[in-house]
Amino acid sequence: MKLSKRIEGVEYSAIRKLTPYVDRAKKDGKKLYELNIGAPDIDVPDIYYDTFQKIKKGPLPYAYAQGISELREATANYYKKRNINFDADDIYITNGASEAILFTFQVIADEGDAVLTTDPFYTNYMTVFEQLGVELNVFKTDPDKGFALPEEKEIEKHITDKTVAILLSNPTNPTGALYSEGEIIRIVNLAKKYDLFIIADEVYREFVYDGNNYKSFGEVGGIEENLILIDSISKRFGACGARIGSVASKNKAFNDGINKLCNCRLAAPTIEQMAAAKLYEIDKSYFEEVNKEYQKRRDVIYEELISIPGVKVKKPKGAFYVMPKLPVDDTEKFAIWMIENFDIDGETLVFAPAKGFFKNKEEGKQMIRLAFILNTDALKKSMKILKEGIKAYVSENE
Ligand SMILES: Cc1ncc(COP(=O)(O)O)c(C=O)c1O
Repeated sequence: MKLSKRIEGVEYSAIRKLTPYVDRAKKDGKKLYELNIGAPDIDVPDIYYDTFQKIKKGPLPYAYAQGISELREATANYYKKRNINFDADDIYITNGASEAILFTFQVIADEGDAVLTTDPFYTNYMTVFEQLGVELNVFKTDPDKGFALPEEKEIEKHITDKTVAILLSNPTNPTGALYSEGEIIRIVNLAKKYDLFIIADEVYREFVYDGNNYKSFGEVGGIEENLILIDSISKRFGACGARIGSVASKNKAFNDGINKLCNCRLAAPTIEQMAAAKLYEIDKSYFEEVNKEYQKRRDVIYEELISIPGVKVKKPKGAFYVMPKLPVDDTEKFAIWMIENFDIDGETLVFAPAKGFFKNKEEGKQMIRLAFILNTDALKKSMKILKEGIKAYVSENE
């Protein structure tokens, strides 16, 4: 028996590679601060769980393939409040943003086509492209400039006759960059000029700090045919396990393609969709509270990081990630060494080596991605572990 060439071409992410080491350390009784995965520790609002308590027992039918109308209506209302113009009919509910992303590229890209995105980028985009035989093209975002987008001319250089779309996560996983209206417009101009899709992955839309404005691609006029908007409740409501996301577009041909894929996988989970509809009705004040907490965490982790000798980092403006450069040769080796050989009172730290987020793995070799998804005390402890760990690792390897 043989497996497909398609699956042979798919690599495990650098994050996943650490799992066996983590499992072993846990078995050995080590306590790990796991800042390697972006799964928030914030409670899902009660209103979500209330739905489950009210469910009448009996058969549990498939939901409508496009998604239940209550959830699509609630999503459209949430968008309207943010000047994002989508109607319930433009929205398709998926099993998390992950399925929305996979479906999107199944619909818009053939084998050999290319998609342009930032470098570094969210590592699972690569997995999707590897499955579909789509080429990943990148333009660099500079760590010294907080991973801001380069000028339009620089981005344009990477567009070829194979390019079908520009893909952006904003605010960004893995860097915490937040793109300004001016940066968004660069992408809009290029998409219009070259007739490209814009895939706007806005799952971190509500995580914006320092009172900065957020400009969604959905607020920009004149790109109705180009825009594909990805959304999810995973991060926004700390509900990663619900597996509810969506894809929205005004492009009828694209929506017809998505509809075929939704029909062929039958449905997203019924009760989770009912519960998610309630989340989309939540008042803005919920996000203000959650943002305050994440901003506090961002400030703590940033202040701790800049106090570590040899660490270079800019303050992230959104999402809950930060990507510092460390004074070590290879952060994957360092990550494993930390899990296996280092602890303070039985506690150590797990982070994501950044090379998996770069097209050219060499470029991310000295960087790591940290997710500030634990409380401030845990973050302070984990940064102390990082500081001492770097000191010990550097002196051991000198
Ligand atoms: C940028 C980005 N897009 C999409 C996803 C996938 O989210 P979901 O849990 O909705 O599948 C993630 C998860 O980490 C993400 O960081």
